[in-house]
Amino acid sequence: MALLTEDALARLREALWAADYLIDPVMAAIGPAGQAGLARNHTAAAERALGRRDDALATLIRLFILQQEQPLAAVRRALDPDPPLAAGLLGSTAAGRIRAKVDLRPYGADDGTAGWLVSDHTATLDTARGRPRPDHVLGVSPASISLVQIGDRARVGRALDLGAGCGVQSLHLARRADQVVATDLNRRAIELAQLSFGLSQVEVDLRQGSLFQPVADQTFDRIVTNPPFVISPPGGRRLIYRENSAPGDELTRQVVRQSAAHLSPGGELSLVGNWAHLAGGDWRERLADWVPPGCDAVIVQRERLDPDHYAEIWLADAGWAGTPSYRGRLDRWLAYLDGLGVEAIGLGWIRLRRSERSDRSVTVLDWPQPVIQPVGDDLTAHLDAAAWAAWSDQAVWAAHWVLAPDAVQETAARPGEEHPARVWLRRQSGLGRLVEVDTALGGVLGACDGDLALGDIVAAVAALTDQAPAGLAARLGPVLRQLIAEAWLRPVRPSDGSI
Ligand SMILES: C[S@@+](CC[C@H](N)C(=O)[O-])C[C@H]1O[C@@H](n2cnc3c(N)ncnc32)[C@H](O)[C@@H]1O
Repeated sequence: MALLTEDALARLREALWAADYLIDPVMAAIGPAGQAGLARNHTAAAERALGRRDDALATLIRLFILQQEQPLAAVRRALDPDPPLAAGLLGSTAAGRIRAKVDLRPYGADDGTAGWLVSDHTATLDTARGRPRPDHVLGVSPASISLVQIGDRARVGRALDLGAGCGVQSLHLARRADQVVATDLNRRAIELAQLSFGLSQVEVDLRQGSLFQPVADQTFDRIVTNPPFVISPPGGRRLIYRENSAPGDELTRQVVRQSAAHLSPGGELSLVGNWAHLAGGDWRERLADWVPPGCDAVIVQRERLDPDHYAEIWLADAGWAGTPSYRGRLDRWLAYLDGLGVEAIGLGWIRLRRSERSDRSVTVLDWPQPVIQPVGDDLTAHLDAAAWAAWSDQAVWAAHWVLAPDAVQETAARPGEEHPARVWLRRQSGLGRLVEVDTALGGVLGACDGDLALGDIVAAVAALTDQAPAGLAARLGPVLRQLIAEAWLRPVRPSDGSI
């Protein structure tokens, strides 16, 4: 595919601006039902919402999002079609109509900056039995959105988007990093990402190659990736956006293992991917073993699928559902997973920090319950907490702690009862953690506003509840340590200088 010249790119961008082909106007034009329909891969409601509109915005939506051929005259009113035709982004039909060969849609980074992403069209729109081409470039997917949401949002120096696809992660990284490098094995992804970056006017250093090979000698403060993580049988028609040539979940493991060598001290990896649950093993231990030495990690499993369900989903994704070969493909897939000893497949998030601590902290959570997005700040807090959770008892008692500001109290009582039978504290952001507290623990946590050392608070609560301070400290110590590790408490001041 030929690329657009700088001049043609600038004119296309101007045309998109002039047509108001931006997130809010597009959303308004297709309406809530249209948006929901497109999220399900159906265009009818969006088409109805556009009705008889024939302005430039409606033409661009039909052309690039609804995959509909448009009259040349209408396209000419929206943009100059000649450079995109020459570059292979648009095609013309025998009847002289214009069709888009790529999806081009507005995308906003989280700071509200306007941008556009260029990717391949969904092959299964409106229940079509299309098959993605082997070098299909994925548009924004649920995994892409998760990857954005689990990330750290602090500004950094250098960031790497590994397996960039259409470039969605880089659009976010570019707002929060001084330099962004994006890599992909797929030549077509490099080309489409280049268009996304050119239209969105972000500077990204794009490199083609496998995994860390294009950045072999380089380190980054942030690496984000949702690699081709699907665990599928070898051979056949491979889809580069989701499949790789390594067995099982080996590629994802390699990315995690190799990331440490490409992270600067304190640097972080965010990853969305699949992992296998192997017969006779503990998946948590297996995942924890992936974490390289010198790194802390929080691993959150969001979903666990049995092999049948997993293979069904990905066969449908590739357009094989309802075809004569479906059953044979399903059986081969299941035989492959069985041969590897895969009992289930987990989907989840990995946040890893090159902390360079000798007593590394790895937390593996099975967390299918709803979370409050974005969870990135909460995962950052967990990684920060690893250092405090390792403090000596003396240092923990001497420090002044503040309870997470989003913690609220919930109670349950029989109707008419004066005192609640049970009391919990619940976090209202991130993972939405919940902890049940008794009077003493609730009193201690409620008093953690940074004024007093934790040891003094426990002593005061012991006095109020008629308990021996040493006994209460011995009972609450392990619980408070766990709550520190879970980022319920953050130190504001060590009081004895020992920390
Ligand atoms: C699931 S897509 C993710 C795309 C994008 N990061 C996102 O958030 O939507 C995985 C990407 O990895 C690329 N890829 C596949 N194998 C790769 C490899 N060995 N090294 C680097 N990238 C690879 C694919 O071409 C694809 O663009």
